[in-house]
Order: sequence, then C-alpha cells, then structure tokens
Amino acid sequence: MSILIDNIGELVTNDPGLGDGPLGVINGAALVAEDTGVAWVGSAEHAPPADERVDAAGRAVLPGFVDSHSHLVFAGDRAAEFAARMAGEPYTGGGIRTTVAATRAAPDGELLDTATRLRAEALRQGTTTIEVKSGYGLNVADETRLLRAAFEVTPETTFLGAHLVPDEYADRPDDYVALVCGEMLQAALPYANWVDVFCERGAFDADQSRAVLSAGLKAGLSARVHANQLSAGPGVQLAVELGAASADHCTHLTDDDVAALAGAETVATLLPGAEFSTRSPYPDARRLIDAGATVALASDCNPGSSYTSSMPFCIALAVREMRMTPAEAVWAATAGGARALRREDVGALRPDGRADLLILDAPSYVHLAYRPGVPLVHRIMHNGVIR
Ligand code: NIG
Ligand code: FE
Repeated sequence: MSILIDNIGELVTNDPGLGDGPLGVINGAALVAEDTGVAWVGSAEHAPPADERVDAAGRAVLPGFVDSHSHLVFAGDRAAEFAARMAGEPYTGGGIRTTVAATRAAPDGELLDTATRLRAEALRQGTTTIEVKSGYGLNVADETRLLRAAFEVTPETTFLGAHLVPDEYADRPDDYVALVCGEMLQAALPYANWVDVFCERGAFDADQSRAVLSAGLKAGLSARVHANQLSAGPGVQLAVELGAASADHCTHLTDDDVAALAGAETVATLLPGAEFSTRSPYPDARRLIDAGATVALASDCNPGSSYTSSMPFCIALAVREMRMTPAEAVWAATAGGARALRREDVGALRPDGRADLLILDAPSYVHLAYRPGVPLVHRIMHNGVIR
C-alpha cells in the first residue's frame, strides 16, 4: 500500500543532501510512503504514482516531533502547587512527593488510562515518537508497574527510580541507591531501554548518580540524565563522562559544562515548558548552539514542572524566549530529539526512514513559532498511516 502526498508547499526533510539549508527544505515537493516507511521524496513534478493520493494544497510538511523527555505515567494533579508558584512560591522539586503518594495509591488501569490519554494528546499535536519515564513509584513494585504502563504506550521507556529519595529512606539515602541499583533495576529491565537520574541538590549527588547510571549501563541500558536543572551541579559533566545520549534541562551551565557538551556526542535537551511553568530563567540555547553542542527540545510533560504535551508550544518558547531561530527550533524538536534517543529512523523524511510526518495548516514551518498557541496540525502520518 503506497500513499503519495502531493502539492507540498514546503517539505522539511532534515536532510541537507535532499534540499536547501540545514533543514533540507524542498519547495513544491511530494513524498511517497509505502507501508511504514518513506519510499521517495523530491520535486512534485517527478513524483512516482502511488495507490492513494493526498493533496497537501500548498501546506508545509515536516517530520513528526520526537519528544525525548516525558513523564506520562502518574496519578493526581498539582494545579494548586502551580497556582502557588504563580503567586510567588519557588519550585524545588519537592512536589514530586505529592505525585508519588497519588501514584502509589492508583490502580494499574488508571495509570495506563492517563498515559494513553496523554500519548494521544501529544500525537494530536504532532508527536510521533515519545520517550516516557517512570519515577513516581520509588519502590520496586510501583516503579515496575509504571514502566509496564509506559511500555504499553511507547517503545522508548526510561527507568527513573532515582527521581527522589522516598520518605521511607530519608535517613538512609545510600540504602535507597543500593535498592535502585539492585533489585529495582532488575525488575525494570524487561520494560526499559534507558536509565536516568535526577542529579541535583536535594535529589542525588554525583557519586549516587554515577552509581545509578553505571549500574544501568552495566545491565545493558543506555543513559540519560536530569542535569543542571535547578543549579550548576555535576550532572552535565557526569552525562558526558559516561557517554549518556542526553543531558536534559541544562538550565544552569558553567563554561566547562558548555565546552564538555560542545565536544561530546551527548545531546543538550532543553525543556522550556519547565522554565515556563516554574517561572525560571530559560536555558541559554544560543550559547550552546554557538559553541557547537547538539540541542534537542522536549516537553518534559509531567504534573509538576511542565504539564504540557505540546511540542509546538516548546518551539514557540524556544524561538521567542531562548533566541533559537525557527529553523533551529524545528530541527531540535525533530532531528535533535532523534539524536537524543539515538534513533536514525525518525526525525527526518528520507527514503528508508519511518513515515512519521505532519501536514501543517500553514505554508511554512515558521508558523509553528509565528502563530503560537494555534492548533496548526492539519493531518498526521504515523507509521505510514494517515489520519
Ligand atoms: O523533569 N526534575 C525532575 N523531574 C521533573 C519534575 C517532576 C515533578 O515536579 O513532578 C522534571 O522537571
Ligand atoms: Fe523530567
């Protein structure tokens, strides 16, 4: 079964070999999808025939968003905490405990319903690939059931048992780290391909974070790190040292941190929804990009620090508040996310890649930032199926 999308005003391929500039833009383009993959892209006048034709009517087409950082499995609501912040309270990460209590009390079905609903919400806004973390269970049984639910909604799942030390381990945090590195990790393995740690004052220090990440790596997982969100701590350096795919947040960086990211494969994943929702200073994307670091954008969708599943919103914030160009922001939300997940098959539209794309109700990708808050996704193709 093949589908020709014809009459594309502006096609973003993210392959500079296929079109203009770093986004590999082709104007007046067409694309053919066959089964779950892209079979052909190019100028509309050279398009081969296909079983079905979709007329894009001059709209822009781009790769589906790759959201490489989310926490979709949880219970409860922290709107009151958000309102208190907007009235002047600071964000400390301590609210994670509120969500842990609600999540532990929730049945499996409720957790899966929430994750499924948020996954569908993200897809409607153009997210065709998403990573989902555990981290609101913080004991063996609950972390395992969170990961099981996560694994039902996406193949990109992350074990975040080291999100916070739970209250019952408050006076013996190293025992908790040992549990995470031992029994909890073993229980997580069937449902996770990534290991993550919240490396931050009040969460896990450098040694504890190193222990968790090393145990995960040894067990065959790949690493990603919540790094330098609330302070300029050791997270970024640790991520680079251990060859993590991504250092996430990167809000407070020293010159050494920027230099380390610039010389590494580790992607700097920026989560502007968190700064928006905690009323914090945004990460300095310009400094990272100008230094040569690879930057991704992700939603950090979670009930505390960033309750948005909208990648278009993150793009608009990155452009307006973080001085990224629209092209840089769109690249970061697609190809950048793919790099952060070490995926070659998503984040670009080229032959042999996955047929994951969106047709925007706009003539150009620039509209994602130019028309903030407007639902611009006209149609989505996910795994070759158009809806
Ligand atoms: O990525 N920083 C740690 N974890 C989440 C916040 C979780 C929460 O507040 O519930 C984050 O922002
Ligand atoms: Fe997070």
